[in-house]
Amino acid sequence: MTSLFEPLRLRDVEIPNRVWVSPMCQYSCDPVGAPGVVHDWHLAHLGAFAVGGAGLVLTEAAAVSPEGRISPEDAGLWTDEQARAWARVVDFVHARGARAGVQLAHAGRKASTYRPFEAAGSGSVPAAEGGWSTVAPSAVAFGGFAEPQALDADGLRRVVEDFAAATRRADAAGFDVVEVHAAHGYLLHQFLSPLANHREDAHGGDLAGRARLLLEVVDAVRAAWPAGKPVLVRVSGTDWAEGGLTLDEVVEVSGWLREHGVDLVDVSSGGLVPGASIPVAPGYQVPLAEAVRRGAGVATGAVGMITDPAQAAQVVAQGQADAVLLARALLRDPRWPQRAARELGVELPLPPQYARA
Ligand SMILES: Cc1cc2nc3c(=O)[nH]c(=O)nc-3n(C[C@H](O)[C@H](O)[C@H](O)COP(=O)(O)O)c2cc1C
Repeated sequence: MTSLFEPLRLRDVEIPNRVWVSPMCQYSCDPVGAPGVVHDWHLAHLGAFAVGGAGLVLTEAAAVSPEGRISPEDAGLWTDEQARAWARVVDFVHARGARAGVQLAHAGRKASTYRPFEAAGSGSVPAAEGGWSTVAPSAVAFGGFAEPQALDADGLRRVVEDFAAATRRADAAGFDVVEVHAAHGYLLHQFLSPLANHREDAHGGDLAGRARLLLEVVDAVRAAWPAGKPVLVRVSGTDWAEGGLTLDEVVEVSGWLREHGVDLVDVSSGGLVPGASIPVAPGYQVPLAEAVRRGAGVATGAVGMITDPAQAAQVVAQGQADAVLLARALLRDPRWPQRAARELGVELPLPPQYARA
């Protein structure tokens, strides 16, 4: 049985354990003075997880282009200045013995929105307040957000190039892992789902057409990324919506991802349409990760309401997933991995500065 605290090797990268930080947007960059540039907040936030013993520290969604940001305050990786700022975070994570990964993202029709804790408003940010017009597979809005423009051939090419350029910058910043964000209703998920993709060209229609942009992005990322470093993709295992993307389809796409050089599929769910009825409960997305792992023969990560050390250990021991990703439990307690190790009777070395704790 595999232990939660056993290393996981993906290509040439050894991740010291299977408790990983799930990406968490901080919406904390300065949109006017230094758009997309991470700073002390991000270093302290992500650094705490490395100090706390997480094996892989995945950053929040980093936009591959300005128009790919969810909010004006999102982090990015479309300039060299942004890459240098990330390098400081990466160096700190490495010094703690953890591996660092960046989630690369384009929000598509869910871009240009107010950050969730913005007092000024909610929904789409108008141009006068620093918003921009959004793009998507089809001119179909998400809920009450502004209507996006359908991407044309040039726009599609630019998206692929932007992911590749961000990947090169991720390598320059020293990241060990890139994760392509194809979940939660953002651009690549919009292409995958028939509820957002009404195209009649090669990038729509059947599953192969709807998955085409994702596979083009993965090919471009793989080509721009060292062969020894792993590529992850986050998917939504289901839209939880009538007529939406299904688990069977996601299993099939995950097999294609494996054939295109993806090393692990991080299985979340939902986000494509507002108001979906989601059976939220402890570990509710674990069966999706298990189905992808067994059906597509690819390593998976499980995420969502994993909060208890024994529960996390069981997911890995039973082979439902190769790693667990935690978000809110780590916000509550960045030392969760160390606490879990103690509870499970495993020795996880503390930073020497904390040896007396
Ligand atoms: C503050 C916050 C920000 C998030 N930002 C992202 C993100 O940037 N990318 C992403 O894929 N998921 C994001 N998520 C979702 C988490 O990664 C995770 O999938 C979700 O919270 C379920 O896991 P949990 O129950 O351990 O919190 C975010 C969640 C939270 C709480």
